[in-house]
Amino acid sequence: MSIVLGIDIGGSGVKGAPVDLETGEFAEKRLRIETPSKSTPENVAKVVKEIVDNFADVIGDSPVGITVPAPVVHGKIPFIANLHKDWTGLEAEKFFTEFLGRPTTIVNDADAAGLAEVQHGAAKGVPGLVLLTTQGTGIGSALIYDGVLIPNTELGHLEIDGHDAESRAASSIKDKENLSYKEWAEERLQRYYSFLEFLFSPDLFVVGGGVSKDHAEWMPLLKLKTPMIPAALRNKAGIIGAAAQADYRRAHPDIVVRVDSDNEVV
Ligand code: BGC
Repeated sequence: MSIVLGIDIGGSGVKGAPVDLETGEFAEKRLRIETPSKSTPENVAKVVKEIVDNFADVIGDSPVGITVPAPVVHGKIPFIANLHKDWTGLEAEKFFTEFLGRPTTIVNDADAAGLAEVQHGAAKGVPGLVLLTTQGTGIGSALIYDGVLIPNTELGHLEIDGHDAESRAASSIKDKENLSYKEWAEERLQRYYSFLEFLFSPDLFVVGGGVSKDHAEWMPLLKLKTPMIPAALRNKAGIIGAAAQADYRRAHPDIVVRVDSDNEVV
């Protein structure tokens, strides 16, 4: 049994749990700590370390996988929308590996969720192009073709009608503007997902994030050609995907994200 710690850094909380990679289940109860209000890399790293220390007995000297709400290009963060601006330009993989004193893999939060949904969740065994979006503070995206992830798509930042898409269609905006599910779906999501459909012709949309549990209230309101289903792993997906990615990197230290749905090299 391979147990690896996955940690999901979000705008409001940092969540971590050791993951049994064969089953995709948590081996221990998840620990959540508030994201520091001044969310610099140093402040967030201290919280991450608290989580690592908490599970030290269970994870031994195994690597750690961490998600961030930003693209991660060869270990580096080119820009960040929803955490402190000091993350921009950070060599995140090097920084966390040194700070934690153990091999650390950093992965975009939506990519991690996409990998987890392909390996253990809603997109398992789905052929063709799966487009997963995560709805939260921002909109994250993962493109998975025949089980292979194409990393770092930033489809929450598509410019639509002169706006950054997530500034209109993210679920945080629904809350901020007090929109009903109907208003949000018909005015904001319809435009966003039909544009994604036009650009990518996916075979399946999977939508994750807190609002996916209320999918019955808004998904049926969308008029799309592409089937859309809620993510299955809910808020566990980022943690599971991060752990899987760290395990993959342990086995293939020179290769960046190239796995299929069985976590095999492709
Ligand atoms: C970021 C993405 C991230 C998404 C969800 C966006 O603002 O640019 O990298 O996946 O938010 O957290």
